[in-house]
Order: sequence, then C-alpha cells, then structure tokens
Amino acid sequence: MALRNRQSVMLLPMRVWDLPTRVFHWLIVILVPACYVTAELGDLDLHMQLGCAVLALVLFRIAWGFVGSQTARFARLLAGPAAVLHHLRELGRRAPDTQIGHNAAGGWMVLLLILLLVVQTASGLFANDGLGLSEGPLAHDVSGWTSDLLTVVHSYAMDAIWIAVALHVLAIIVYAVVKRQNLVRPMITGKKRLPAATPAPRMASLALAVALLAAAAAIAYLVGTRA
Ligand code: HEM
Ligand code: HEM
Repeated sequence: MALRNRQSVMLLPMRVWDLPTRVFHWLIVILVPACYVTAELGDLDLHMQLGCAVLALVLFRIAWGFVGSQTARFARLLAGPAAVLHHLRELGRRAPDTQIGHNAAGGWMVLLLILLLVVQTASGLFANDGLGLSEGPLAHDVSGWTSDLLTVVHSYAMDAIWIAVALHVLAIIVYAVVKRQNLVRPMITGKKRLPAATPAPRMASLALAVALLAAAAAIAYLVGTRA
C-alpha cells in the first residue's frame, strides 16, 4: 500500500540549495581542515590568510541568512522544540525525502556550526602564539591578558568544531543508512527529487551573492591586514 502510494506521487527535480550556499559549504569543508593543518605545522602566516578567507565566508553566510534564498534564511532554519522532538522521534523510520531546506533538528546544528566558526575566526584575530613571533592582526588592540584568554578560546573552539562536525557527518550517515536519504548529492547539485506539488523555494539573485561576498572579503582583508 505504502509502495503504491509512493509510486503514485510524481517526483520532480527541484532546486533546494542555491549556488552560493553550496560554494560556501564546500569551501568551508576544505578551508577549516587547512587552517588546522597549517596551525599544527606552525605556518601561522598561511594559517591567518586561510583563516581570514573563512572569516569572509562566514560574514557572507551571516548576511545570506538574512537576505539570501529561502532555504538559506535563519528565519526558516529554527524550528520550535515540538517540531524538533517530532523530527527526532521519526528519525528511525524509513521515508522518502520531502524536506525542502534543513530539517527541524538539522537547522539548529547548522546554526551551531556557523556560531562556532564565528567564535573560531573572531578569537583568532586576537590570538598570539605565546612566543612573541606571531599574533592575530587585532592582538595589539586588546590587553595581553585578553589576547591570552582569546588564544585559549581559539584552541577550545577548535575542539568544539571537530565534535560538532563529527555529529554533523554522523547525522548524514544515519540519514543515508536508516532513512535511505542522500543529503550529500543535493548539497553538490543543488537539486532534490520532490513531490511535484511541493512549492519551489524562492531563490535570491546571484548578483546579490557576489556583491555580499565582495563586501565580506573586503572587510576580512581590511581586518586581516591591519598592522
Ligand atoms: C569542516 C567540516 C564541515 C563543516 C564546518 C560543515 C558545516 C556545514 C554547514 C554550516 C551547513 C549548513 C549549510 C548552509 O545552510 O549554509 C552544512 C550542511 C551540510 N553539510 Fe556540512 N560541514 C562540514 C563537513 C561536511 C561533510 C564532510 C559532509 C559530507 C559528508 C557534509 C555534508 C553536508 C550536507 C549534506 C549538508 C546539508 C544538510 C541538509 O540537507 O540539511 N558536511 N554543513
Ligand atoms: C576557522 C578558522 C580557523 C581555524 C580552524 C583555526 C585553528 C587554529 C588552531 C588549531 C590553532 C592551534 C591552537 C593551539 O596551539 O592549541 C590555531 C592557532 C592560531 N590561530 Fe587560528 N584558526 C582559524 C582562524 C584564525 C584566524 C582568522 C586567525 C587570525 C587572522 C588565526 C590566528 C591564529 C593564531 C595567531 C594562532 C596561534 C595561537 C597559538 O599558538 O596557540 N586563526 N588556530
């Protein structure tokens, strides 16, 4: 019966993730580990350049969360506790993917990931290496004590990011194995096959994204090159 119902619903490819959100995501996936590796190798100059690129992307994503496409907006991201609980209760049930944007629980996870990236990049700007050899571009604007404190924050935020990313990837694996839903492909192609009656989300213009990214990059550059 369930099968007949599923067959009777016509599925059509629909754009759920815009290009800017997808580019943001996959650049973050490359740049965050690159920041980690360069810090561990002690190449702090390259580390800070890559860190400022992450800062630009995060500033862009925050702006996009207010004026971007419907599925990228923060207002749509955050569901109430009842919706989150209902979603988690249904997690073990195999079902076709009818989700247009982030799901009720995933939205909060996304917000956490973005907030952690804000803390990581902001604290890095004020951090110092403890040796007087290298420091973030804004380290001189605060006291030595504050800079040391934000260096500790920078180090702990990294641990928090790894834990959050592990949960994030685990959730995606659970979706693939338990619910048989492939969430990764839509994050690459932008498209999902959804019931034909699903209302298409409104997509913001690419020109707006380019303008916001240019502004975000300019701010990150000005902050990053502050002597
Ligand atoms: C450094 C590692 C990672 C970080 C910081 C990260 C962060 C994020 C963020 C912030 C979003 C929300 C996208 C947006 O609305 O802007 C997201 C979504 C997503 N990420 Fe990641 N991610 C990471 C690694 C990965 C990896 C390795 C995969 C693939 C297995 C992945 C797959 C996805 C998918 C499929 C979504 C969309 C989820 C949905 O359908 O709601 N991510 N990620
Ligand atoms: C998401 C982006 C970033 C990640 C993942 C990251 C990660 C790290 C890690 C893992 C360390 C080593 C911490 C330790 O020794 O315990 C570090 C150190 C450092 N980072 Fe970042 N960082 C990022 C962004 C930035 C930015 C934007 C700046 C400044 C422009 C910056 C400046 C520094 C400095 C000055 C240190 C040396 C502090 C120390 O030796 O403890 N980082 N970062």
